[in-house]
Amino acid sequence: MAEWQKSDWRNKPRIQMPDYTDLNALNAVEAKLASYPPLVFAGEARSLKQKLGAASRGEAFLLQGGDCAESFEQFSADGIRDTFKVMLQMAVVLTYGAKVPVVKVGRMAGQFAKPRSAPTETVDGVELPSYRGDIINELAFTSGSRIPDPSKMLQAYTQAAATLNLLRAFSTGGYADVHQVHSWTLGFTEGENAAKYRDMANRISNTLDFMKAAGLDSDSNHALRTVDFYTSHESLLLEYEEALTRLDSTSGKWLAGSGHMIWIGDRTRQPDGAHVEFARGVQNPIGLKCGPTTTAEDLKVLMAKLNPENEAGRLTLIARFGAGNVGEHLPRLIKTVQEEGANVLWTCDPMHGNTIKSATGYKTRPFESVLREVRDFFGVHKAEGTVPGGVHFEMTGQDVTECTGGVRAVTEEDLSDRYHTACDPRLNASQSLELAFLVAEELSSLRDIRTAAAV
Ligand code: PEP
Ligand code: CO
Repeated sequence: MAEWQKSDWRNKPRIQMPDYTDLNALNAVEAKLASYPPLVFAGEARSLKQKLGAASRGEAFLLQGGDCAESFEQFSADGIRDTFKVMLQMAVVLTYGAKVPVVKVGRMAGQFAKPRSAPTETVDGVELPSYRGDIINELAFTSGSRIPDPSKMLQAYTQAAATLNLLRAFSTGGYADVHQVHSWTLGFTEGENAAKYRDMANRISNTLDFMKAAGLDSDSNHALRTVDFYTSHESLLLEYEEALTRLDSTSGKWLAGSGHMIWIGDRTRQPDGAHVEFARGVQNPIGLKCGPTTTAEDLKVLMAKLNPENEAGRLTLIARFGAGNVGEHLPRLIKTVQEEGANVLWTCDPMHGNTIKSATGYKTRPFESVLREVRDFFGVHKAEGTVPGGVHFEMTGQDVTECTGGVRAVTEEDLSDRYHTACDPRLNASQSLELAFLVAEELSSLRDIRTAAAV
């Protein structure tokens, strides 16, 4: 078989990508991006792969989260800091529940392109091409805004580079030093679960106090002051991905230089399609969304194509079936994985199968449905004796009102207050932290079951 080339996807059927009209402009942008430095380097992608391998064996747990779509307009240091901070808080809570390291991967520094359910959008009888994310066109409903503009790729690259720069600074500059756990739950004043969260927060605080007393605090321990934080995005706009792909001189393998981990969406996972063709040739950890329409046959072919050497940590299967559908689909796909003897990391995206339209007209996701899908995911893995290795959330550190429910309940009427997402509804800071407490509970009960079985 001829060796893989980063442009091979161009010979395959492509969907969910724009038809650029100005090909000269497109070529010029691609040439420019190809001359720019990659955003990540291969050693980082390899170390993430190792950690994901550990998560696939239950020796670590993956927390992947961030915006549905990063936006040019809402780009700010505060936004990045707040999401980073909530993810670290969640990670502390999850570590406490799981008693294993939490691998932190942002949907950040590259999450700009969106697949859409329809190629066009009609408002008041006017039909225009759909908005496909800020790297492609603009959200405003005018014909000019919806024309795909290749120069937006350069802006996306610049924003991704600046985002990653800040994340790297936060990760090593002392910001990672997470303290005062009990203060995180101060907003949790009502509801039957609030006391439970405060209790867990107090227990975590006590543990940290004990560590400090024992001299294991961040002053004495570099590892507590720094954090490994990785980036990820859907590898959807393949012109951008190809232009940032580089040959890694150490391994002689290709690397998608646009982010540490890339994933293939539920709409673009055709085994013979362009997106699978691109992802199979790069050495990064790859995510693959699995939905209700994922067949055993397709999954077999995809696992063979995307992970021919059956490397641990290479392939993460991101289950997104929707609350109430997990029991029907997850066991059959787990069976397929087992029949193939495939090494995969199973994680749960409880967002994309649970989007509904509220009575007030907003796209939303009820917290209860998100939680139910997570619990069903854990339940099936418990029953099958397999490893629930991580969670994937659309979330933000901002106090938005986009998903309903949670202990500081957001109602359907509240949605209009602070609905800022550029695409799908995200969990706000409080809802994200609450989910971390609830997932930590699942993880700790799983640990009890394992411990009991081992005795
Ligand atoms: C997403 O993760 O934003 C997304 C579009 O997911 P999916 O491909 O699973 O629908
Ligand atoms: Co989304």
